[in-house]
Amino acid sequence: MTDRYAVIGNPIAHSRSPDIHAQFAAQTGQQIRYERLLAPLDGFVAAVDAFRTAGGRGLNVTVPFKLQACDYADRLSPRAQAAGAVNTLVFGSDGVEGDNTDGVGMVRDIAGRHQTVLDGLRVLLVGAGGAARGVLLPLLQAGVAAVLIVNRTPDKARALALASADSRVTGCGFDELGKAGRFDLLVNATSAGLDDAAPPLPTSCYANARLAYDMVYGARPTPFMQIARSQGCAMSCDGLGMLVEQAAESFRIWRGVMPETEPVYQQLRQTLVAG
Ligand code: ATR
Repeated sequence: MTDRYAVIGNPIAHSRSPDIHAQFAAQTGQQIRYERLLAPLDGFVAAVDAFRTAGGRGLNVTVPFKLQACDYADRLSPRAQAAGAVNTLVFGSDGVEGDNTDGVGMVRDIAGRHQTVLDGLRVLLVGAGGAARGVLLPLLQAGVAAVLIVNRTPDKARALALASADSRVTGCGFDELGKAGRFDLLVNATSAGLDDAAPPLPTSCYANARLAYDMVYGARPTPFMQIARSQGCAMSCDGLGMLVEQAAESFRIWRGVMPETEPVYQQLRQTLVAG
């Protein structure tokens, strides 16, 4: 029987995960079926239960269910625990495992596709919501020297820094950035791009950075990427590579085989640009 997987969310029609996993399966010769699952906003648990009863082996979880998926799991991986969110569920005979592959996806994209060694870098992490929390532990595990979390609501940045229990992490507001020194890597984990805006960073932050990384992606460079380029940042990129890498890590967890991500990334990029 073909093993069944799906991505669950609301809305879900826009999700590229079925296309990505179909390519991974074809490439590795794995017999799987991967669907989109639209769950009612108040019906996550019932939808997951039904999928499991029908023989489902695992789920990717997206907005707005990543926190509920945390509660649903019987066990959490350390990175899911640190993220406080689950994007990958594994249904085994001994219960439900919750994992989070978003952060490791970003780290692999930065280190591999964008050829930036994270070890020893000074990082400015912009935003203190779920997206920022999800990438914090993998960044620290990759050996960065320091992470300054900056947020519109400074107390949230300070609270996230404190919760990390790592002396390399500190938090502040945008008006304190002037005296914060220079950064090698800027990561935009805010949702400002959804309003076609960039977070209000002083222009001095961009000039010395090697890479400006936006966790969202689109057909055109995001506002954050455009400002970074115009202010002299050496390199800027969007989060399309992160999307493909987090999917590959989920596929590896489920199937025990790591797919090649580059051809899938290239195909997605072409599709995006072609509109
Ligand atoms: P996500 O799960 O995507 O991180 P979230 O938890 O709602 O979503 O967090 C959104 C983040 O983007 C927050 O850090 C938010 O700042 P506040 O904590 O002050 O709300 C940040 N954000 C959203 N719009 C922004 C904007 N226009 N400028 C700067 N930061 C913004």
